[in-house]
Amino acid sequence: MYSIRWKILIAYLLIIIIAFSVVAATLIQLVGDYMFNQRVRDDQRVAENLASLLSEALYSLDVRAMYDGALNASAEKLSRVMVLDRFGVVQVDARSELNGRRFQNAEVIRALNGGGPDYGFYDIDDTGTLSHRTGLTALGNIREMTGLYAAPIYRDSELIGALVYISQAQEIYESLREITTQTILWMVMVAASALLMSMFVVRTITRPIGELSAGISRMSRGDLSTRVEVRGKNEFAQLASAFNSMSEKLERLDKSRNQFVSNASHELKTPLSTMKILSETLLYQENYDPEMQKEFLSDINKEIDRLNRIVSDLLTLVNIDSGGMQMNLGETRLRDVVTEQVKRLTPLAREAGLELSCVIRDPCETTGDSLKLQQVVYNVIDNAIKYTPRGGEVHVELAKVGKKAVIRVEDTGIGIPQEDLPHIFDRFYRVDKARSRETGGTGLGLSIVKQIVLLHDGDVRAESVENKGSTFTIELPLVQK
Ligand SMILES: Nc1ncnc2c1ncn2[C@@H]1O[C@H](COP(=O)(O)OP(=O)(O)OP(=O)(O)O)[C@@H](O)[C@H]1O
Ligand SMILES: [Mg+2]
Repeated sequence: MYSIRWKILIAYLLIIIIAFSVVAATLIQLVGDYMFNQRVRDDQRVAENLASLLSEALYSLDVRAMYDGALNASAEKLSRVMVLDRFGVVQVDARSELNGRRFQNAEVIRALNGGGPDYGFYDIDDTGTLSHRTGLTALGNIREMTGLYAAPIYRDSELIGALVYISQAQEIYESLREITTQTILWMVMVAASALLMSMFVVRTITRPIGELSAGISRMSRGDLSTRVEVRGKNEFAQLASAFNSMSEKLERLDKSRNQFVSNASHELKTPLSTMKILSETLLYQENYDPEMQKEFLSDINKEIDRLNRIVSDLLTLVNIDSGGMQMNLGETRLRDVVTEQVKRLTPLAREAGLELSCVIRDPCETTGDSLKLQQVVYNVIDNAIKYTPRGGEVHVELAKVGKKAVIRVEDTGIGIPQEDLPHIFDRFYRVDKARSRETGGTGLGLSIVKQIVLLHDGDVRAESVENKGSTFTIELPLVQK
């Protein structure tokens, strides 16, 4: 976690420093170039003007006039003017230091050789020697920087000498140095504030990651109630809320699994205890009563049937949950499924004193596992019979609606209270526990119905009015022809 923090910080800083350095260097270069060019242009003009001004004086070797001109020009700008003859010998030096000496440097030679006017920049170090300045860096310690201009002097288009104009350029160097220092100062300040900002940014990035990973490790230790704080709306907030909804789901799943196990154990325990009591009574019976023995054994047999049913229902559900449910899919005609189950349940309905009717409007071909669909239809009609008092009616209808087959099972029974309706498809859920036990129900029937219908990409729902009756609607996709 810390390594990512440092990596981001360093990357951030490097990017800023590099970008700033490139920009600063380019800017300093541009400004420097501009200042130098400006100066070159100005000074060159002065040099050329002087060259033409003193041309006559040089020709006539009028030292006085040359000297006046040179001094005049030099006084202005802390500069120095020299007039050289055709061979580079100094005729007049405004500072009178080099009079009569040869003055030769690249610019002068070029000017005297007919190469036109030329200029160069020189550094004057502590010993007073001129050294040619090549690059333009404002660093380093330079006592004085000068520009040197050599302009050829013509008379009647004949080259008769050269004018050397040396002007101090130190202030350019100074201001350039000032700009550079300022820039470096700025760079340090920007880098420092970037560092602060990036520390803040990195913190906002790494903090939620840290919290999330702490949450994950808490969860992996078994604490499913773990939630992390969701801050803002960014990607980390999305991650945090995804984590929260995941842990919520896991917690809910864990709870419902525990509930399922405890319900199942309870349901299994009831017939077992009944059987235990019955068998013990038989075992310790003093007087042998064959009538009673037969009755008890038949009760035990019923409890065994009940156990068997619960266990096979549980197995079915567990199979569906683990995705291990074998589906024998095939073209199934729902008309056959429905009529067969109605036929199967007619005796039960008659016994319960009910009228069971059935209307088939369309044959309704669907792709499905016909055995499982039979189980679905059986369960729903069985419920309708079980929860409808004597004299009532159960009506089954099959019809095609749009692209779906719809099976409706309507009864005039006891109905389901509104608050129970959303739960009747839950495992082991029974509205009236006592009554359901009487009818032998465990509350697994509808949850199996729901799972099987979902496996067929279908849907099942219930509507009911208490004491009036219930309607169960099963929708299954039809085979597209
Ligand atoms: N047609 C209906 N009329 C009134 N109540 C119903 C009807 N169908 C289901 N119920 C209620 O929904 C509950 C759940 O039904 P479900 O079929 O899952 O369980 P069961 O019939 O009690 O037991 P099982 O089907 O496992 O033998 C029932 O206990 C009952 O209270
Ligand atoms: Mg049932």
